[in-house]
Amino acid sequence: MVQHSKLRKAVFPVAGLGTRFLPATKAVPKEMLTVVDKPVIQYVVDEAAEAGIEHFVFVTGRGKGVIEDYFDIQFELEQTLKARNKNAELTLLSGLLPKAGSASFTRQQEPLGLGHAVWCARDIVGDEPFALLLPDMIMRAEKGCLKGMVELYEKAGGNVIAVEECAPDQAHKYGIVGVGEQLEGGFRITEMVEKPAKGTAPSNFFINGRYILQPEIFAILETQERGAGNEIQLTDGMLKLAKTQPFAGYHFKGQTFDCGAKDGFILANVSFAIERADIRPTIEEPLKALLAALK
Ligand code: UTP
Repeated sequence: MVQHSKLRKAVFPVAGLGTRFLPATKAVPKEMLTVVDKPVIQYVVDEAAEAGIEHFVFVTGRGKGVIEDYFDIQFELEQTLKARNKNAELTLLSGLLPKAGSASFTRQQEPLGLGHAVWCARDIVGDEPFALLLPDMIMRAEKGCLKGMVELYEKAGGNVIAVEECAPDQAHKYGIVGVGEQLEGGFRITEMVEKPAKGTAPSNFFINGRYILQPEIFAILETQERGAGNEIQLTDGMLKLAKTQPFAGYHFKGQTFDCGAKDGFILANVSFAIERADIRPTIEEPLKALLAALK
């Protein structure tokens, strides 16, 4: 066990434009699109809560106010449910509500990139380590991805990034890490490369959207120049931080659904629906028929 500060806060950057989901995202933030009957963001907040996170920091932007409303009481709705004795629905809603004072919202006025969105959370996070969860990635595993990362963080300290394996010929599409000394649940990261040129990747472990970062990242992001896509890139900031602090990779072995992309979002819906005892019986046969018709 190394010296480390307890992880209490998690940041959810939800200020992106979601252009891949236009026209829906003209009026609905992509984080509020539903996988079965819950918004995508709820799955990610649940993962953070399971890992012991006590404070949830949302970096929002224009048109994202509905996310703040979602994590609040809906007085008229709840009064109506009470009047109609809809107790199961009331219990469901109250179980999903963050404790009073445990959610904070700040604005990224312009979508200048993920690194900039993280920097916008600096005053709320303060001088302590924090988790960063990309709110359009849903991870499914017996043990939540962030919970596994916290276990590794408690032993290794420093910064922790979740990684997964991709087919080696796909490595050029991702942020890839180099593999060093083995640790329980992961390994020391020796290098990070954003979208390496084909055939040059140091491994096939890609960064999947979950991070535990030390607060020194904020000072780095503050002065950081714009990088790829003319955006302030988180990876560029992490590369600078890695010069003075250790990074470990947590090897996540569950399923990941990229709900920021149409294919990942549709697969998440089908996959979570067939796990549900109340839905599976009515969709199983039609789904099989659809697949059979593809042959
Ligand atoms: P993405 O690039 O996947 O999100 O950023 P996007 O820009 O909303 O999506 P497309 O490509 O236009 O469809 C990863 C995460 O970082 C957040 C996004 O909301 C998303 O959750 N983000 C990105 C910000 O909060 N601010 C930014 O300036 C950029």
